[in-house]
Amino acid sequence: MMNEAESFSEQERATLYRVVQARRDMRHFLPATTIPADVLHRMLAAAHSAPSVGLMQPWRFIRIADTNLRHQIAALVESERLATAQALGERDDEFMRIKVEGLRECAELLAVVLAPDDGTVFGRRTMPQEMALCSAACAIQNLWLAARAENLGMGWVSLFDPVKLGQLLGCPIEAKPIALLCLGPVKEFYARPMLEQLNWRQGRQLVLMRDQWSEGTC
Ligand SMILES: Cc1cc2nc3c(=O)[nH]c(=O)nc-3n(C[C@H](O)[C@H](O)[C@H](O)COP(=O)(O)O)c2cc1C
Repeated sequence: MMNEAESFSEQERATLYRVVQARRDMRHFLPATTIPADVLHRMLAAAHSAPSVGLMQPWRFIRIADTNLRHQIAALVESERLATAQALGERDDEFMRIKVEGLRECAELLAVVLAPDDGTVFGRRTMPQEMALCSAACAIQNLWLAARAENLGMGWVSLFDPVKLGQLLGCPIEAKPIALLCLGPVKEFYARPMLEQLNWRQGRQLVLMRDQWSEGTC
């Protein structure tokens, strides 16, 4: 039987589920704001305590402090936004009206980079790239939840050419940027995923299959 100090109370449990439900991907931030250094450090520590395959911890965080660099990154994202609209075809106009990043106005901008492969075999012999990526995503999700618990918004931006972003950030050739994270105070959190609110796409119901893949439930 687990001792009391180790177990969570009903109230603590409810808080965790509330944070999970209230987390949103945010693109609207209050401009001219900051995040106190200790809060940023707390959130990054939460990210760094994420699980990872074979304890590989393949994530690296780069804090973008230089304003000029932030503008260069924003320009890179903008060119990918235009390329995405083109690739979408008939929904291009609708897509162009959607705010897909808050890079210029968010309080803090972080880049998450997959470190050069350290050759970890434990747990990733059959799916080395996927397991490294999944591990880094776990760290990002921890950060997302920590940000929400700190009443700060976070937005994951993936609209960029990873090679070009890697060059802007001086990354080694074997490293791969996977995320730009916009963080900061927001006026309010979207009540539902913004893509649902804008009728871009509706989220799916939870699916749980039994024993076998079954098409009827997907
Ligand atoms: C891997 C990943 C990449 C994403 N990239 C972007 C992005 O470039 N721009 C954007 O507006 N949202 C991006 N999102 C946010 C998703 O659109 C969002 O998570 C989804 O619509 C559900 O909304 P919610 O996070 O508020 O629940 C990304 C999310 C993930 C997990």
